[in-house]
Amino acid sequence: MKVFINKIIPEIGMQLLARPDIDLIMPENPEISYDEWISYCQQCDAILNIGAYKIDAKFFDLCPSVKAVSLFSVGYDQVDLAEATRRGIPVSNTPDVLSRATSDIAFLLMLMVSRLASFHTNQVRLGVRFKYFNPVANLGQELYGKTLGIFGLGRIGIEMALKCQAAYQMKIIYHNRNRHPELEESINATYVSFEELLAQSDVLSIHANYAPEYRGKFDASVFQQMKSNAILVNTARGGFINEDDLYKALKTEQIWGAGLDVSDPEPMLPDNPLLDLERVCVLPHIGSATFEARSGMAKTAAENIIAFVEGKPLLTCLNP
Ligand code: DGY
Repeated sequence: MKVFINKIIPEIGMQLLARPDIDLIMPENPEISYDEWISYCQQCDAILNIGAYKIDAKFFDLCPSVKAVSLFSVGYDQVDLAEATRRGIPVSNTPDVLSRATSDIAFLLMLMVSRLASFHTNQVRLGVRFKYFNPVANLGQELYGKTLGIFGLGRIGIEMALKCQAAYQMKIIYHNRNRHPELEESINATYVSFEELLAQSDVLSIHANYAPEYRGKFDASVFQQMKSNAILVNTARGGFINEDDLYKALKTEQIWGAGLDVSDPEPMLPDNPLLDLERVCVLPHIGSATFEARSGMAKTAAENIIAFVEGKPLLTCLNP
């Protein structure tokens, strides 16, 4: 079977894929254009895909030989899953293996913003003679006993909740499309409406799966309902946040700060005014960027390809 993989993945995945029944096709330069990507996919039976090019009706029309898609990500917003399902094409993702790493980044951003860490680092780097011991300037806020609101309590959200409970005994509230009573008990989380989530959260961390209807959901009307000490954390997808409205909400102190591992576009453009704000910390989408998580993703993604090649169901299949 011919399998297209657009970038080298960690060794464990490359080793698994090195089998006589798999003819692995890889570009010499991993930064390929959409058209180049399509022409590679057109030669293959399955793809192990890293990246954001849309896998939708147009893709399936252009690449009729592709009969399985193994994503190297937990997010699958680049895929039209309904269309794949309609055409009988299985699609898999890499759940679980990156939950710890991604929730670490959410936790890190929460702390960095709460203590203005990016701002202070820049001061040092710029050689500014900063008045560290000014008793009233540039103060952060502590998190002990505060309320963490989670938008989208899945695997990553759960890990974030557990960290915040263990470190700071934070109270956990969450809002999901569907309520999870079993989780509420096991991690001591309380389900609230979206409005209550906004009104009560001292830290609001976004962990939901992104879908087009969420585009710009966190906008001016949302920020107006949040607490003035609130920190917004986003490690999910940049599209959740209207960045212009976020900038205004931060400038007018409607909310306190924001920690963003994701943006729209990515990477965030260097002239984005959010980067000038003291209580903003921006990272370039590094949620899963650990040796452990990326190896786990490589193993899962490769095992899904192998399952397809062996005529078995994909192990972490997303299709209903
Ligand atoms: C994921 O796995 O979804 C990460 O955000 C990388 O895209």
